[in-house]
Amino acid sequence: NSKNPMQHLLSIEELNAEKLNALIDLAVDLKATRGNHPELPLSGQTWAMIFTKSSTRTRVSFEVGVRELGGSIMFLSSNDIQLGRGEPIKDTARVLGRMVHGCIIRTFDQQDVIDFSNYGNIPTINALTDAEHPCQILADLLTVKEKLGTWEGKKCVFIGDGDNNMSRSWIWAAKYLGFELVIASPETCLPPSDFMEKVNAPNVSLTTDPVEAIKGADVINTDVWLSMGQEGQKEKEALFGPYQVNEEILKNAAEGHIVLHCLPAYREKEITEQILELHADTIFQQAENRLHAQKAVLATIAR
Ligand code: CP
Ligand code: NVA
Repeated sequence: NSKNPMQHLLSIEELNAEKLNALIDLAVDLKATRGNHPELPLSGQTWAMIFTKSSTRTRVSFEVGVRELGGSIMFLSSNDIQLGRGEPIKDTARVLGRMVHGCIIRTFDQQDVIDFSNYGNIPTINALTDAEHPCQILADLLTVKEKLGTWEGKKCVFIGDGDNNMSRSWIWAAKYLGFELVIASPETCLPPSDFMEKVNAPNVSLTTDPVEAIKGADVINTDVWLSMGQEGQKEKEALFGPYQVNEEILKNAAEGHIVLHCLPAYREKEITEQILELHADTIFQQAENRLHAQKAVLATIAR
């Protein structure tokens, strides 16, 4: 795509169907050729990761992915660099931009990732902000494709906190790819109307009725009720009881449905131990797909 090459991955919002499909197709290729890639696009490069939140999957998959594409990588916890003592992100970006070839950032404010990309002038990847988790949805889509063949014509449901980074990334993906998406969430956790107006996708609907939402669903996707940074919000957590993914609620799902969870999973909160273990094959394939999807991102944006 030489006319409008991808420079960064900051959100799904800024992509389109062509770019999403290209990333998934490349992820399929890289998964098939793992250990035997004909080209190493990060050869001779050094990448950095700046994380201000915890991570298992994202950190490990990027550390492995960069190495598998020929590069080296350093992990920078915000506690250990001057960012954590108040050095502005734009200064951090201008320093790293002169030394490393790309940066992967996990933080709170989407604006920090945008600022880094503007000031650093190196490929920049959003590894989760409060606004979006673009790397995760790519892995989710790859898993849907592998398990169900396609997302076209499938009914996908996001049940739980309808207004977090995962639900928003799913909403943008549904807009561009055109599959039916139902967000089932307590009233106060539905995505706000100004956001839905901006998305403007008639194939995305909102409901407070979890049972109705799951009727006939092919893909049931959930996430933690309290995202990182919301720990201790007991009043919010208390709203979600009817939105648990459990045996009872899945009775009305479509035959052959799959259950997705980006992990980490809180048992007997958003999903029961029984259902997580029943669908562990899919859910851990989804986790593995982080590696393949992110290698596709790296190979696409590396300069
Ligand atoms: N799903 C996900 O991003 O996991 P980590 O927080 O462990 O990276
Ligand atoms: N919504 C979750 C996703 C974790 C991978 C969070 O932000 O904590």
